Amino acid sequence: MSLAVQIDQNGGPEVMKLVDVTVGEPGPGEIRIRHKAIGLNFIDVYQRGGLYPLPMPLKLGMEGSGVVEAVGEGVAHLKVGDRAAYASQPPGSYCEVRVMPAKCVCKLPDAISFETGAAMMLKGLTVQYLLKRTLPQGGLTAGDFVLFHAAAGGVGLIACQWAKALGLRLIGTAGSDVKCALALANGAEFCINYSTEDFQAKVKEITGGKGVKVVYDSVGKDTWDKSLDCLAPFGLMASFGNASGPVAPFAPGILGPKGSIYVTRQTLFSHITTRENTQEMADDLFDAVTSGKVKIHIDQTFPLAQIQNAHIALEARKTTGCTIITL
Ligand SMILES: NC(=O)c1ccc[n+]([C@@H]2O[C@H](COP(=O)([O-])OP(=O)(O)OC[C@H]3O[C@@H](n4cnc5c(N)ncnc54)[C@H](OP(=O)(O)O)[C@@H]3O)[C@@H](O)[C@H]2O)c1
Repeated sequence: MSLAVQIDQNGGPEVMKLVDVTVGEPGPGEIRIRHKAIGLNFIDVYQRGGLYPLPMPLKLGMEGSGVVEAVGEGVAHLKVGDRAAYASQPPGSYCEVRVMPAKCVCKLPDAISFETGAAMMLKGLTVQYLLKRTLPQGGLTAGDFVLFHAAAGGVGLIACQWAKALGLRLIGTAGSDVKCALALANGAEFCINYSTEDFQAKVKEITGGKGVKVVYDSVGKDTWDKSLDCLAPFGLMASFGNASGPVAPFAPGILGPKGSIYVTRQTLFSHITTRENTQEMADDLFDAVTSGKVKIHIDQTFPLAQIQNAHIALEARKTTGCTIITL
């Protein structure tokens, strides 16, 4: 048996209930993992609220770490007793123990704690594919400007550090001066408080009117229009989230006069469809963390029984860095 967070209908944080579930044996390609810590992500809010519709009843949570308890047929990369961590579909990590596909579960290096493992897999693999695989024409080289919205959040603080390590000049945005200070302390070269300043004008000023090569935009509705105007000709608008709401439909014709810019909508789950890709990206992330290039900031911790408060804080923009759920 395991405690798990389940919803029977979409809605606010109050629809999340702790239920007792039976956990069986892993089938082919699966493992059973006993969690030590669980990651909180904004995608959990979209799934709970219904922006990303899924069948009901629905167990929530896409990230976690723990110890492998049982291994199904055909799983070669994990064995019973291994420390492991993952970002993976299907949702269901908000629980004590679960059976799940093994493909996206990676052995956790001894140097990385369970807490850090649970906090970093979904957000860190996202930064990995954004900065290394979601690139403008000709790629990114040291000295290039990029704009990264919500720079003091879970994904954002990892991006600030990793971009700096790559020599990129990251301009962050954040919703308060305190958050901006945090982004700056973590490697952002500039940080614009977009609650009080016009980020488009500021980006033009910082880049001497040239614009940035890439905008990494997870805020969505509120930042979309101005972000397009922050780009240099042939720049890339990399949309990867909708914290403020989904981007409205737009006509491709607007992209020409803005400098023949490119638009992409990215999701981590396109990048981790195979075991090989997942491990390659995870190894790069593990290296970034164990080498000290990227520090995972766990700024909030909630017990599983207080999952509603965790969602309330995340949606109210009260969190910085990563948040984990403990058992
Ligand atoms: N597509 C993918 O592969 C992928 C993977 C991981 C994450 N994501 C996306 O990346 C974003 C960051 O994820 P995260 O889990 O690390 O969350 P997070 O950045 O820690 O939290 C979201 C942040 O978005 C900002 N925000 C701006 N407008 C908001 C609004 N109206 N309501 C709530 N927040 C607002 C807030 O920062 P400020 O107060 O500083 O504005 C808030 O702290 C999310 O949009 C998420 O969906 C996408």
